[in-house]
Amino acid sequence: MTAISTQALEKSYRGGIHALRGVDLHVERGEIFGLIGPNGAGKSTLVKVLLTIVRRTAGSASLLGQPVGHRPTLAKIGFLPEHHRMPRYLTGRQAVLYYARLLGMTKRERERRADEMIEIVGMAQAAHRKLGTYSKGMQQRIGLAQAFVNEPELVVLDEPTDGVDPVGRVEIREVLLRMRERGTAIFLNSHLLSELETVCDRVAIMLEGTIRRQGTPAELAGKTKWRLTYQGDPVGPHTSNDLSFEAEDEEAQRQLDLARQQGRVITHFAREAVSLEELFMAEVRDQKGDQP
Ligand SMILES: Nc1ncnc2c1ncn2[C@@H]1O[C@H](COP(=O)(O)OP(=O)(O)O)[C@@H](O)[C@H]1O
Ligand SMILES: [Mg+2]
Repeated sequence: MTAISTQALEKSYRGGIHALRGVDLHVERGEIFGLIGPNGAGKSTLVKVLLTIVRRTAGSASLLGQPVGHRPTLAKIGFLPEHHRMPRYLTGRQAVLYYARLLGMTKRERERRADEMIEIVGMAQAAHRKLGTYSKGMQQRIGLAQAFVNEPELVVLDEPTDGVDPVGRVEIREVLLRMRERGTAIFLNSHLLSELETVCDRVAIMLEGTIRRQGTPAELAGKTKWRLTYQGDPVGPHTSNDLSFEAEDEEAQRQLDLARQQGRVITHFAREAVSLEELFMAEVRDQKGDQP
């Protein structure tokens, strides 16, 4: 089942800024989908078009199988906006309850769900402290509790890890995995996906309002990187005894055999994942190369 689908989606802002230039995107239910792109790529615009905060200029889009703007469907979607601001004088628990009330949940329901979500995001200890005393990571975790409070089928998170320290990022990642286990589809975007790549089932790279690549992190990574390290002098064509190279499995084995035949002691031989960050940077470089 499709969680998000867009076809040739376009958005031009007044003043002639063409923020989305034909976006085709498909997010399945039950997956964590990551959209990566530099600032200004159009990520937030895409999210706002999907949630009807801004109106699309052309193309079509659907959420949970219904056209964008279908009100009963919006009630099944959780949302954490970019740079969200919640009143600093509220406690974490009060903030989650406040949003649950806006969503029209009954008192019983919102208290049960708020406490459950606060537990899941690991904020039970700090739930009665004011938001003003929270770190950025704690604020984002309360933001996640808010986004998930009405048991949505799809959650859209705009830059959930922005400004969060590395420990906080790991915690957010764990929350997302826990929520995926419950069957929630999660769409998130970031200008820095390195902390989230292990969590995403599929990713897309967005540049200047278009999707450049889309697939599983493994599909996008394409060729595998290998690392081979051995003791002693370099053998054959090797220029170092510590090599990192892109190769098919068979070629990598040949490099290993070569070092072994020369009696070298192998200290390290492994596949290394090409990080999304590297891929993303390569894509940005290609684009710069395209320009005259
Ligand atoms: N309300 C707006 N009015 C005019 N231009 C906008 C508006 N919001 C965003 N933009 C422009 O649209 C482009 C995409 O912005 P945005 O969607 O915020 O990108 P991202 O979230 O990837 O950083 C940028 O050039 C930005 O300046
Ligand atoms: Mg943005």
